[in-house]
Amino acid sequence: QDAQMRWALSGPLEGAGPDAGPGQRAVVMTMGALHEGHLELVRRARAEAGPNGQVVVTIFVNPLQFGAGEDLDKYPRDLEGDVARLAGVGADVVFAPTPDVVYPDGDPVVRVSAGRVGEVLEGEFRPGHMDGVLTVVLKLMHLVRPDVALFGEKDAQQLLAVRRMVRDLEVPVEVVGVPTVREPDGLALSSRNAYLAPDEREQALTLSRALRAGAAAADRGAAGVINDAREVLDGADGVVVDYLALVDPVTVDAVTDDFSGPALLLVAARVGSTRLIDNQAVEVS
Ligand code: PAJ
Repeated sequence: QDAQMRWALSGPLEGAGPDAGPGQRAVVMTMGALHEGHLELVRRARAEAGPNGQVVVTIFVNPLQFGAGEDLDKYPRDLEGDVARLAGVGADVVFAPTPDVVYPDGDPVVRVSAGRVGEVLEGEFRPGHMDGVLTVVLKLMHLVRPDVALFGEKDAQQLLAVRRMVRDLEVPVEVVGVPTVREPDGLALSSRNAYLAPDEREQALTLSRALRAGAAAADRGAAGVINDAREVLDGADGVVVDYLALVDPVTVDAVTDDFSGPALLLVAARVGSTRLIDNQAVEVS
């Protein structure tokens, strides 16, 4: 337990009291290097928890979800800065365990499988990644025992996999998705944006640009959406696309050309050595 670090960030909360109801425990799970996207999840968690509730933020760079050759060692870490950033946004407790607290027996033998949801899209380029995510999410849920857990739509496939796990395994936690927070120019906030050199940051804008172009073609059907998004990606320098896909937002199956209804347009691409993902909901007609 010594390795387990906790900070009580705030005293009794303004407005708390018997009239405000019992409140709930809400958790925001992160890998740290917190940015405005994470902070938005925390603000939303505060609202979900209520003034008498408790907002727990976990910070843990989970080795299980990084593949060989990925950025586990160089992933940005700034615990003191993160705690400072959390002070003003309604977090009550930061739980920043070391790997030996989360995995006391080393790598877990029993793990959660994301099944098909973990094999497509991200799964094709990061085998085992989604299983590693779900395993740590379930472990953190058991350690924190939240009523509500908040996840960003930025990582749409992750959000979907977590929802699926909670349904399939009867995990007694309500999952809330929070819209993607973007820079004014459209770039989705990500801890990995810190890796981008100025010219790469410019090239990275191609992802959100492609998604907007795709969404703007929603009235020309699924093929129109993919076509217009693809055109933006093809026209860009320095962007190596892993995938561009228009999928059913529940099953993650690629939609057919005659599809109409709500869909999710997802893109993953490498800019230099930095891998970025983004997505946008599209109402195909
Ligand atoms: P991390 O990448 O730190 O993200 C933590 C949470 O913040 C995730 O739910 C993610 O979707 C959300 N988030 C990130 N960028 C966002 C943005 N621009 N707008 C809105 N939400 C955003 O995702 C993980 O960590 C890990 O896989 C984790 C779930 C913690 C398991 O290890």
